[in-house]
Amino acid sequence: MPINGTRLNDRIARLAGFGQTADGGVTRPTFTPAYLQAAQAVADWMSEAGLAVRRDAVGNLIGRREGDPAGLPAVALGSHIDTVLGGGRYDGALGVLSALEVAQALHEDGVSLRHPLEVISFIEEEGTRWATGMLGSRFMVGHISEEFVRERADRQGVTIREALAGAGLDPARFREAARTSDEFHAYVELHIEQSTVLESLGLPVGAVTGIAGPLFLALRLHGRADHAGATPMHLRRDALVAASQIVLVAQEAAATASSTAVATVGRLEVSPGAINVIPGEVFMTFDLRDIVEAQRDRLEHTVRAASERIATAAGLRYELEELTRHVPVPLPEHMVDTVSRSIEAAGLPVHRLPSGAGHDAQIMAEVTDTAMIFVRSREGISHNPREYSSPEDIVAGAEVLYHTVVALDR
Ligand code: HGY
Ligand code: MN
Ligand code: MN
Repeated sequence: MPINGTRLNDRIARLAGFGQTADGGVTRPTFTPAYLQAAQAVADWMSEAGLAVRRDAVGNLIGRREGDPAGLPAVALGSHIDTVLGGGRYDGALGVLSALEVAQALHEDGVSLRHPLEVISFIEEEGTRWATGMLGSRFMVGHISEEFVRERADRQGVTIREALAGAGLDPARFREAARTSDEFHAYVELHIEQSTVLESLGLPVGAVTGIAGPLFLALRLHGRADHAGATPMHLRRDALVAASQIVLVAQEAAATASSTAVATVGRLEVSPGAINVIPGEVFMTFDLRDIVEAQRDRLEHTVRAASERIATAAGLRYELEELTRHVPVPLPEHMVDTVSRSIEAAGLPVHRLPSGAGHDAQIMAEVTDTAMIFVRSREGISHNPREYSSPEDIVAGAEVLYHTVVALDR
């Protein structure tokens, strides 16, 4: 098997150097200097792999090798190199670098494919900057509006349009990033599992059956800041007390909604935020998910109803805004079968499992047959500097990806 594990694992370590944090993690939001340096390194490695490299109109990096005969749709592999704040070195990066390694191994092995092969590094998968994930792939499938590019701003108030311009792109041309289904034969994303199923089974890799749908909401609670000493408890309009009650309702609702439902309050900002001032304002976010849309809808309904009930009872005004909504996506059976046969071809037992995390694959699934390959995560840890996958599992994953590409090309 021509996968060069030393080269792959070395590139993972080198890429982690861009945006490295003191605790060994990685913080590399889209279009930051660390991100642009990392993207340049990936572009250089794409050239080394014999791929023609381009940056599309919104900054997605695409390395391509033509197929023979000409004119067939592409087999595309990809993931992302942007990270969450205080993330790890494998989330997204492993998918891009494993795809690159497969392209280079095929090239070095003299394997010519019928279909063009593409390696894609999508921008802004995590939603760290604009609170909306999978932005690069949504641009590629033509889902992003002019208004969204113009209006959606990050915490520093920088809009997507301004950031595109800041990265040397022309925001007026964002639609040129859109591609059509006849350009693709298939899309495959390799990713760390970010949970403990494979570890609990002692398996290095798995075949993904479906991808949960993230729903992000933002809640602003408006109470009244007041004197912590002089204001009796019954006369308070304490936004934080209400927020706390809503957090607990969301937790309980997810725990009882279904075995695959999850609810997370990842941001909670209190103002004015002083020791002797009753919290007048709270800004908080919800990340609600399930692999079954109806179950997530019930969870959403419970959170919306609780926000209304608890805010009203506490005499608070509130706004609940939808930031992003993605449908859960089942992956086509024949694509899961292809990955399963590739796992067997790598001499490994097959396990099929859904993804609780979101991925560009769930967007690409709208335009082409899509598959995902999971690589075991130690203790299931992710979005954390302690995120880890072993070099051996990483090589096993790349071998499965190699087999999958060859199978899809036939
Ligand atoms: O949030 C997610 O699911 C992924 O890590 N972007
Ligand atoms: Mn990811
Ligand atoms: Mn992630």
